Amino acid sequence: MDLIKNKKLLMHVGPVDIYEEVLYAGLKNNVGFTSEEFVNAFRDSLKGLRYLFQVDDTYQPFIIPGGGTSAMESVTSFLTKGDKILVVSNGVFGDRWINIFKKYPVEVDYLKAEAGDYVSIDSVKEKVKQKHYKLVTFTHVETSTGVRHPIKDSVKEIKDYVDIVVVDGVSSVGAEEVKAEDWDVDIYLTASQKAIGAPPGLGLLVVSENAMKHLREDNIASYYLDLKNWLPVMRSMEEGKAAYFSTLPVHTVFMLNEALKLIQDEGIENRVKRHEKVAGTIRAGIEGMGLEIVAKRPDAYSNTVTGVMLRKAKAQDVLSEIIKEGVEIAPGVHPSLQGKYVRIGHMGWVTPNDAIITISALERTLKRLGEDVRVGEGVRAAQSYLT
Ligand SMILES: Cc1ncc(COP(=O)(O)O)c(C=O)c1O
Repeated sequence: MDLIKNKKLLMHVGPVDIYEEVLYAGLKNNVGFTSEEFVNAFRDSLKGLRYLFQVDDTYQPFIIPGGGTSAMESVTSFLTKGDKILVVSNGVFGDRWINIFKKYPVEVDYLKAEAGDYVSIDSVKEKVKQKHYKLVTFTHVETSTGVRHPIKDSVKEIKDYVDIVVVDGVSSVGAEEVKAEDWDVDIYLTASQKAIGAPPGLGLLVVSENAMKHLREDNIASYYLDLKNWLPVMRSMEEGKAAYFSTLPVHTVFMLNEALKLIQDEGIENRVKRHEKVAGTIRAGIEGMGLEIVAKRPDAYSNTVTGVMLRKAKAQDVLSEIIKEGVEIAPGVHPSLQGKYVRIGHMGWVTPNDAIITISALERTLKRLGEDVRVGEGVRAAQSYLT
């Protein structure tokens, strides 16, 4: 048996380490999609989403197959031919919105930040004042760089000028403060495999009453991702009645439901604080060993992803060497920094101990690869952050 492989700590950007209770919840051999057990789990998950995104019953939750990208693409359900869209992109996943909308008969404009930064609120405001956009998209935490966008303040500044504000919370929901209703966000979305700590397979959204008015018969969405087709299923399930549009990943929904229950047990504020503490420990460790973080400013630091700039070592070598130390981290994927950084994912059920282990393994790995790091100083800084 490969002990290291067996004991490996997964500090990735999703899927993340999954609690056993969550995994066991999906181990069912005999549940049909019309069973009471499944309908109850689905209904509870819909309610769990309202808690997670901090919205009341006026918001319509959706659980659809796929993941972050299916949730993103399903937003086309609120668009009709010729609509104007503004994408606010801070990196790879912000750009994904542009690629999605280019497939549809809509007009797409965008604003892009350089790697490690976010698009300023002023520039978004200026843009929406120049032209009427039906829909504007933001990415709460840009997973490619670990940059967090100030959603609350940005939405406040632009809401009067646009019809629908959409936020991709794939790397934030469950780990960052998210108050979709208070912040007046129309569509907040995420996926099951990140800070929620469930396996991949589900796209999750909450949609405001205002946005639901735009869910029209003549929308441009594809058949499978047209939320008009999924809406009767959501409504029926919430009333405790089975419904079908296309087969749902039944077992994954059971696991999602268990994860949402655990989140409610922990309490969302406590969960956010735990993530803040782990992220702070990781950053203290990185800076302590003498390295730089990809996010350029402290207000752009996220609770979930930390990009670590390398000076000498190659990213690919760091990934393959740190695995030998029992920790798996993620490659950097922003094209303008390709090969020059690695990412540490710290979301889901992460603890400060996980952060200390990661920092110590990274120090050893980087030293071996010739990087000029102060071995021991990262761990010392992380420890003192915690104490
Ligand atoms: C911010 C963000 N948005 C969207 C996605 C796409 O999600 P998925 O890979 O589940 O389709 C990801 C995936 O990592 C992401 O990090």
